[in-house]
Amino acid sequence: MQKPKKDLLGLKDLSEEQITNILETAKTMKYIMSQKNKKTGHLVGKSIVTLFYENSTRTRISFEAAAKYMSAFTSSVSVGTSSVSKGENLIDTAKTIDAMGTDAIIIRHSMSGAPHLIAANVKACVINAGDGMNEHPTQALLDIFTIKEKKGTIKGLKVAIVGDIAHSRVARSNIWGLTKLGAEVSVGGPATLIPPDISKMGVKAYNSVQEAILDADVVMGLRIQTERQKSGLFPSVSEYARFFGIDEKRLTLAKPDVLLLHPGPVNRGIELSTSVVDGEKSVINEQVTNGVAIRMAVLYLYTRESDD
Ligand code: CP
Repeated sequence: MQKPKKDLLGLKDLSEEQITNILETAKTMKYIMSQKNKKTGHLVGKSIVTLFYENSTRTRISFEAAAKYMSAFTSSVSVGTSSVSKGENLIDTAKTIDAMGTDAIIIRHSMSGAPHLIAANVKACVINAGDGMNEHPTQALLDIFTIKEKKGTIKGLKVAIVGDIAHSRVARSNIWGLTKLGAEVSVGGPATLIPPDISKMGVKAYNSVQEAILDADVVMGLRIQTERQKSGLFPSVSEYARFFGIDEKRLTLAKPDVLLLHPGPVNRGIELSTSVVDGEKSVINEQVTNGVAIRMAVLYLYTRESDD
């Protein structure tokens, strides 16, 4: 087995074998999660710190739950109440956390490349929990885990990613991961929200959601990332919902046993109708559960490396 690098910064850097190893480890972690007593000794004596410069519900809580289930010491830096608010810069903040004997720093930041910058300056392993528009590797791993659990394989599946591709780190990480595992990926959305060179990543691009999801095995809706858009890239939210939102009628264009994914948080009635969010094709809540299993696997595999 190829050893993981010190840090998990993106799926672009991982081999198919490394991705598969994380997915296989997560199966064991999901079994542990299903037990009445979820406590294991995998991370006894390890110190894990979450450092989030952007808001989060799922990623932060699931990393913290994962670390606690495996008996790690956990700390959470709230940027608003830390010395960041006194002007301390990113590298000094990370070095300060590192100097406390931290084994893993989990970082989310609005700047693409922030985790890479930290990784080059600390001994701790750095795990990217979302950097700007670049990557969100553990989100894609949990998405791929969910698809594989339901479909048995990734190879040969048609996966359509629909919405704000341009600003989506989730889309980028999924494209890297899914194509490495042999899926056929298409993206769909308004031309202003699809990067012109996206086909270089090995995907087909459509400006029609109907074309993108035709015969798909998996449809992944994405949130409109208004916080990252510099100017209006579509006329109005209601027009976006009308032309690019996924509802029950549009979902019938995909295969009858299609899976509907969304990384959350969902803006109901915009990218997905409420009926599909809560419908029988939706695996959105299972994605959240699998997020804990994947983060348990990642924390175990990456902090274990530093022991070797
Ligand atoms: N999917 C995701 O990253 O959700 P949060 O922003 O709630 O962590």
